[in-house]
This record gives sequence, structure tokens and C-alpha cells, in this order.
Amino acid sequence: MLATFLQNEQFIQALYILSFTLFIIGLRGVTSPATARRGNMTAAVGMAIAVVATLLIPETGDFGLIALGVAIGTIIGVPAARSVQMTQMPQMVALFNGVGGGAVALIAWAEFRRSGGDLPLEEMIPILFAAIVGSISFWGSNIAFAKLQEILPGKPISLPGQQFVNGALLLVAIGCAVAIAAGSGAELLFIGILVSAAVLGNMFVLPIGGADMPVVISLLNAFTGLSAAAAGIALGNIALIVGGIIVGASGSILTNLMANAMSRSIPAIVAGGFGGVDLTTGGDGESKPVRSTDASDAAIQLTYASRVVIAPGYGLAVAQAQHAVREMANELEKHDVEVVYAIHPVAGRMPGHMNVLLAEADVPYEKLIEMDDINSELPQIDVALVIGANDTVNPEAGMPIIDVQQCGQVIILKRSMSAGFAGIDNPLFYNENTSLLFGDAKESVANVTGEVKEL
Ligand code: TAP
Repeated sequence: MLATFLQNEQFIQALYILSFTLFIIGLRGVTSPATARRGNMTAAVGMAIAVVATLLIPETGDFGLIALGVAIGTIIGVPAARSVQMTQMPQMVALFNGVGGGAVALIAWAEFRRSGGDLPLEEMIPILFAAIVGSISFWGSNIAFAKLQEILPGKPISLPGQQFVNGALLLVAIGCAVAIAAGSGAELLFIGILVSAAVLGNMFVLPIGGADMPVVISLLNAFTGLSAAAAGIALGNIALIVGGIIVGASGSILTNLMANAMSRSIPAIVAGGFGGVDLTTGGDGESKPVRSTDASDAAIQLTYASRVVIAPGYGLAVAQAQHAVREMANELEKHDVEVVYAIHPVAGRMPGHMNVLLAEADVPYEKLIEMDDINSELPQIDVALVIGANDTVNPEAGMPIIDVQQCGQVIILKRSMSAGFAGIDNPLFYNENTSLLFGDAKESVANVTGEVKEL
């Protein structure tokens, strides 16, 4: 009796509706740092309900194999997610996203085999779409992961006639799909789709430089969403359709926002060739004079200021200096110094990177000021403390920046004269009102705090 009720089609549909309602509520939650954690949990509960609903479908299949899959996924996924460093999050997202795309391509293949290649067009077309886009997403994400993890060089890798080869690969995939849609049930054609889309996925990401990788990951994320939505249409699974469309839409919006914040167009990013500088070497900085400072002088400048702006960047994340920074700000506030934080939309390596780090150190949200709002106030600020940021404060970066040179004094905390992620030398370093405090950001900040305490 209970089993009949649980396996009732309407009950399963109701669970799916509940699950995607929770996805949407969860998405609303992650729009603010204060509710982000709850939003994430809400969406996770929605996903758990969708999984249970799917398992209830009578023809779901071999529970032994499903349990094995869940076990393998848990053993790999949970420790990886727990141990990943915040700075490695983009790689992690690339991997998870890629696996999603790969799963969609495999589902499409399984459905094709199950039907023996004989499906009505309204099911076959979404399956073919899911196979092409899911496969591109999986193989492209793997390259993005390898570049960010420095398994592959971050610089663009291009072959002669690359765009032509990519066009040809896409034509092969579409050609095989059209032949299948026209009635050929040959599995070889389906495998042809998967293979050409796989090579295309690799070739599409290889020429793109490491600096553009977060944008590419977000674009591939959107691809995965669209392919999942297509698989949902083929399987008649409403939760998959809605979930896929949410991922597709939010991935597309995020891609656009990032590209705009970097003043780049998406076609220019996809065309590749940017960010080709070796990330460990700098510009021609060594030849020009720069003013270096020490913790004691920096502490004096900061303590006698009335307003200080902190511009954090990737180096703050690498050094894990967020707690040290909060402690320094507390000490400065004891000297009646007003401290705010200037947040660039692409500071660090992922959207919201600085917000997450600073929230972790309990910096109040209202002290985090977006780039567009802080820039007009900078001329009234006495000292800008740039902590591990480079491109986001570089007047030559070719994108909107936090224009710290408008402040009275600029103190830059970094380890060397190396360039930032885009590999462009930073003229800010050589300005009259700039001084550099060399060293690891966490240590430098702790030293400054020690000196402030003495004053
Ligand atoms: P970057 O330009 O990458 O500069 C970071 C600086 O931190 C480096 O110059 C490095 O100099 C310094 N650093 C590294 N480790 C350090 C440590 N332990 N202590 C002190 N300093 C350290 O950072 P940014 O200003 O945050 O810019 C972000 C870049 O990523 C931009 O190019 C942006 O376009 C790109 N990007 C970001 C995103 C998102 S969504 N965030 C998306 C796409 C692209 P030293 O080696 O001399 O220490």
C-alpha cells in the first residue's frame, strides 16, 4: 500500500516540484552573504529530494549499481570538498561542472542505446543536443582544471588553423546528429558525436589563457546546465529541466558579468590568446626605482590617518591573511581610524572571493564597498593599503580598477615586483605616493599590527 503510494506518478512529480522550488529559494539565499549558507543548504535538500524521487520511479534499475555509484562519489567528493583551499575553488568548480556535463552525455548515450536509435524526433533532438554540449563541457572543463592546477601551462596553447579545425569538428558532430535524426540508428554515428565534441571541448579551451579561465568555467557551467535541461526534456524529468535552465541562465549571467568587469567581450575571450605571460615572472619593474617601506613606517602612516581603505586581492587569499587583516583593522579602529574595504568584482580567482574571505574573518558586510561606489570617495581617503592585489589596482590593466592612486598615500603589500595574473607591469608601484612593503601578506600585516599596538 505504502509502496504503491510512494511510487505513484503524481507523488513523484510533486516531489520534483518541491525540489526545484527549493533550488529557486536556495538561489535567492545565495544572493546575500548573510543568507548564503542557508541558501546552499536549502538547494542541497532540494537535490536530495530529487534523488529520492528518481529512486522511487519503478523502472529506476539496479540498486546495487546505484549504491556503488553513490559510494564512489561520496568517497571521492566529500574529502575533496572538505580539504580544498579557497584559492583552489575554481579548479574544483571546473571538475564538478565537468562531471555534470559528462554525466549528461552518458545519459544521452544510454537513452540512445536503450531505444536502439529509434526515438521520436522530440526526444531524439534533445538527446543529440545533450550529447554534443555535455561532451564539450566535460572535456573543456578537464582542460580548464588542468590549466588552473598547473598540470598544463596556463599560457594559451594554439595550433595553426585552430578556428578552422574547431569549425570542422563542430560540423562533424552536427553532421552525425543530423544523420541520426534523419533515421540512421547507427551507434557508430553517436560515438562520432561524442568523440568530435570531446576533441572540440579540448581544442576550445586550450588556446585560452589562465587569466580568463574563471570566465570559461562559468561559460562551460552554462553549457552543462543547458545540456542537463535537454536531457530533462528527453527523459520527461521536470526537476532536471528546471535545474538545468537555472544553471544555464545563471552561468550565462555570471559569464557576462565577469567579462564586463574585465572589459572583455565573450567572443574575444573564447578566441583566446590573452594572459600568455608566465605567471611567475614580472614586468620590467626591477629597472625602475621603487620606494620600499617597513612595518614600523607603515604603522605610523596608518595610525595617523583618519580614513584607510584596504584593497584586497588574490595574494591575501594565498597568504590566508584575512584574520590578521581583521585584527589590524581592530587595532586601527582603537586609534579612531575609519577602515573600509574596496572590493573589485574580479579580485582573487572567483566571483565573491574577497567577500567570502573577509566574511570568514567576521568583517562586517557594510564595510565592504563595491568598486563603483568606493572610487569616487578615494580622493578623501588618506591611505590605501593594497594587500596582495595587483591587476585590480593596475591603471594599465585595461579594465575598470580600484583607482587607489587617488588616495593620499598608497602602501602595497606583496612579496616581489612580480606582475599580477594578467602579466602586465603595474605603473602604480613607481608613483611618488606609493611605497611597497615586501613580504608575505600575513606576516607583513601581523608586523604592522604589532607596531600599531606600540603606538
Ligand atoms: P593578481 O593580479 O593576481 O595579483 C595578486 C598579487 O598577489 C600578485 O602580484 C602577487 O605578487 C601577490 N601575492 C601572491 N601571493 C602573496 C603572498 N603570499 N603575500 C603577499 N602577496 C602575494 O590579483 P588581483 O588584483 O586580485 O586580480 C585578480 C586577477 O584574476 C585579475 O587579473 C582578474 O582579471 C583575474 N580573474 C579573476 C576572476 C574572478 S571572478 N575573481 C575571474 C577571471 C579572471 P608577488 O608574487 O610579488 O607576491
